[in-house]
Amino acid sequence: MSIQNRKEATANSEWAIEARGLVKNFGDNRAVDGVNLNVRAGTIYGVLGPNGAGKTTTIRMLATLLKADEGSTRIFGYDVAKDPHIVRQLIGVTGQYASVDESLSATENLIIFSRLLGLSRAESRNKAAELLEEFGLTEAAKRPLKNFSGGMRRRLDLAASLIAQPPLIFLDEPTTGLDPRTRNQMWDTIRRLVKTGSTVLLTTQYLQEADELADRIAVIDHGRVVAEGTVNELKASVGTSSLHLSIQNPQDIQDARQTIEQVLKVQTSISSEIGKITAPMADADKVTDLLIALRQKGIRLDEMSVQKPTLDEVFLTITGRGAEDDASKSSNESDKVEEERV
Ligand SMILES: Nc1ncnc2c1ncn2[C@@H]1O[C@H](COP(=O)(O)OP(=O)(O)OP(=O)(O)O)[C@@H](O)[C@H]1O
Ligand SMILES: [Mg+2]
Repeated sequence: MSIQNRKEATANSEWAIEARGLVKNFGDNRAVDGVNLNVRAGTIYGVLGPNGAGKTTTIRMLATLLKADEGSTRIFGYDVAKDPHIVRQLIGVTGQYASVDESLSATENLIIFSRLLGLSRAESRNKAAELLEEFGLTEAAKRPLKNFSGGMRRRLDLAASLIAQPPLIFLDEPTTGLDPRTRNQMWDTIRRLVKTGSTVLLTTQYLQEADELADRIAVIDHGRVVAEGTVNELKASVGTSSLHLSIQNPQDIQDARQTIEQVLKVQTSISSEIGKITAPMADADKVTDLLIALRQKGIRLDEMSVQKPTLDEVFLTITGRGAEDDASKSSNESDKVEEERV
């Protein structure tokens, strides 16, 4: 399919992704448990979730790399199960699974990708040089990939996916492990991709990243979408800040929660540490009222702080527990089960 045809193929669809009821079981582990996603063409969509939430598995199903057990996906209106060959020409996938050859240099890798996409030898060489320059990899162009740092690899991986600039790009944790400067470069590149007509779905564990980039966000936990909306909607549900309170006497905890809920008019949650209460807080000024109310009830505090929301706060508020709780569920190479491509 040529670029012109790709434009035609995507022109009539308002939605880049429409996924309904996606399910994936690995043995008796239900990794994805009924995910629905709608991603409007021309936008950046963030999928946020802790380790093992099912982000990569979801992407792989959307991108025809893994067959869904249940549910259906349309990419620019094309059914992933019925027209995988069309879908593959409309998407690019980069991320946690490296798409490049270790023994070859950066230049060689990009030239191979370009040639595979039908560019001439001269065009491929030019494209490779252009992308290496753009991603600040010119110095390292001739070195074999096995000597590349993690950040350099990610940049090369993204560069490779840009050769074709597909209408829909899946980026699986594009900035995990990058230094802040490289992360910013990556963000700029992602924004440019969308300005020039692509749609991007990215996964991240960083709320800040979703905040910077995404028009809408889905929060995934245990294979389910537990919250969805614009960044502002999501933040409003968490509160712009969060309040942390430690109570001296654990017997006061229910009383303290009630007081907080009355004064701040929000739901509180209890964190794993005994006697620690967390609550979203839109207005830091209300702290004064709260402290007075607690004093009047004779509830004594050990510690109090007001913090900007972190990914953990989002999870605490939405799911009632912290993001780290799931770390042990993270992908384990040793218990991989047989997979089937679409
Ligand atoms: N090929 C596989 N075989 C068996 N289990 C798998 C396989 N791939 C993923 N899983 C399991 O499915 C669940 C979801 O994994 P997935 O990789 O989709 O999570 P993730 O949200 O991408 O996590 P991370 O943030 O660590 O990348 C985990 O429990 C994981 O162990
Ligand atoms: Mg993953």
